[in-house]
Amino acid sequence: MATPPPSSAAASASTKVSVSPAAGAFQTILIVDLGAQYTQLIARRIRELNVHSEIVSNKLTAKQLARRPEVIGLILSGGPNSVYKFNSPLIDPALLDGRIPVLGICYGMQLMGQLLGGKIEEARRQEFGKTELWVDNHEDSLLFRHLNPNLICWMSHGDCVASTSGLPRGTKITAHTEATPVAAFENRARKLYAVQFHPEVTHTPWGTELLRNFVYDGCSARGDWTMGNFVEQSVEAIRSQVMGAGLRSADAEHSGDVICAVSGGVDSLCTAALIDRAVGSRLHSIFVDHGFLRHEEGDKVVQAWKTHFKSELIRVNAGPRFLSLLKGIADPERKRKIIGREFIKVFDEEALRIKRSKVAVKWLAQGTLYPDVIESSGVGMQAHTIKTHHNVGGLPKRMKLGLVEPLRDLFKDEVRKLALELGLPRPLVYRQPFPGPGLAIRIIGEVTAERLRILRAADKIVRDEIEMAEMERPWQYFAVLPAVKTVGVMGDHRTYGYPLVIRAVSSEDAMTADWSRIPHKNLERISSRIIGEVKGINRVCLDITSKPPATIEWE
Ligand code: XMP
Repeated sequence: MATPPPSSAAASASTKVSVSPAAGAFQTILIVDLGAQYTQLIARRIRELNVHSEIVSNKLTAKQLARRPEVIGLILSGGPNSVYKFNSPLIDPALLDGRIPVLGICYGMQLMGQLLGGKIEEARRQEFGKTELWVDNHEDSLLFRHLNPNLICWMSHGDCVASTSGLPRGTKITAHTEATPVAAFENRARKLYAVQFHPEVTHTPWGTELLRNFVYDGCSARGDWTMGNFVEQSVEAIRSQVMGAGLRSADAEHSGDVICAVSGGVDSLCTAALIDRAVGSRLHSIFVDHGFLRHEEGDKVVQAWKTHFKSELIRVNAGPRFLSLLKGIADPERKRKIIGREFIKVFDEEALRIKRSKVAVKWLAQGTLYPDVIESSGVGMQAHTIKTHHNVGGLPKRMKLGLVEPLRDLFKDEVRKLALELGLPRPLVYRQPFPGPGLAIRIIGEVTAERLRILRAADKIVRDEIEMAEMERPWQYFAVLPAVKTVGVMGDHRTYGYPLVIRAVSSEDAMTADWSRIPHKNLERISSRIIGEVKGINRVCLDITSKPPATIEWE
């Protein structure tokens, strides 16, 4: 089902008017955010089971829910509060009226218990971490179907449903632990299910099976959330938005071309790829090459484009312009600001040029992801989004473009799956995170053409050698050029050159990181190749600091 284009007032004000292909098109499980650290994780786990999920505020009412026929279940998240304390988050009790299956997790279980007339109290013994769990009423339980009767789960709670006297009427205990007599309960007739532990974390190793039971047996999911379906829906939705296709003639005014900024990262490539499929040559993509990309990276983006896209890619080689602006600048934040500002300026100039030559440009594409949407709506607690320097948020208002944001329903791991579905090359899909300001923030101090040459050559060696090493591929691995010089000796000559630092880290989300143990033989090869091949470096060092206390990048 396609979503109609925005109203003209919205479009001309450049407000967010994006089409969401998932809106109404896929069966959906809503995750009601009650303040948990893990809300996004629950949403991701449900999607891994091929069911679309969406995080919503606890203000959701049963009336609003009734207007969303695609919603097949609710999950009440955990949260740090105590249900019996003043001002703790609540939900509309009518959500538990049995019309829709509901799963309560941790605080969500306690809230459900209280709203159903049960009693919640401070636990006699708090449980944190891995905990042994015994399943009760195994044969009747929907959640524990096909699971072992004795399991390890991950607990993190200070309150619990009071032992049998606190159990809401009509519900059955389905699991207990040594310290918690009601570790799970169910009321099958009213389609209500609750667990005190966290099935969404990997420390509950069978948690996915439990969620699968809820989603498929409890909510009768079809499992229609696949990237193949997403592409189909998305392409149709973009076509409708951008071309006003198949819509009322009044919507024809929205028909127009799209401008897109491409950085070579997987988000912008996927954004462009979907729009390219939907409207082909009506997409005009701009690749601002600021000159701080890695060895041959810009050329690879252009090559991949030629193979996979029908529309044009305009590469703006702005390296000299950026370099002259950074002359004499050593402070990292100033570098970032200068690069960020200039990036937007170059993009704007190019976009205006296109707009002038193609009068029909009406849309700007952006690679906004679901975590950004959650964050800006104020729902969901985690704010781990890494701000990308390539966001073109500064596009002048005078251009009056509406927004096309085809990825606004997706988490990052889904974007990678989408990229594979769209046939984009694997090296681009699995490219390690690369900061918007590029090598400019890996050259400590002033960036010059010569120092760029040195770092780019050394960085290629570091990456090539680590990719050949017998080790798990680090999250990020690269070279850093410090701003000091050291004395060395080569042949019979004294040298005075730069040291080069190898930085490689393992991480899950860049919030924390550990330094990677690169095998000595690979370190040796990196060192001798850099000294032998990169003029200007006479010493190679290894950064063995985790984050915290250090950060991943040196600047
Ligand atoms: P730090 O250095 O803070 O980096 O541990 C965390 C993650 O963010 C990336 N990073 C940036 N990304 N613009 C970006 O787009 C930036 O200015 C920037 N600084 C750091 C870094 O590569 C790592 O993945």
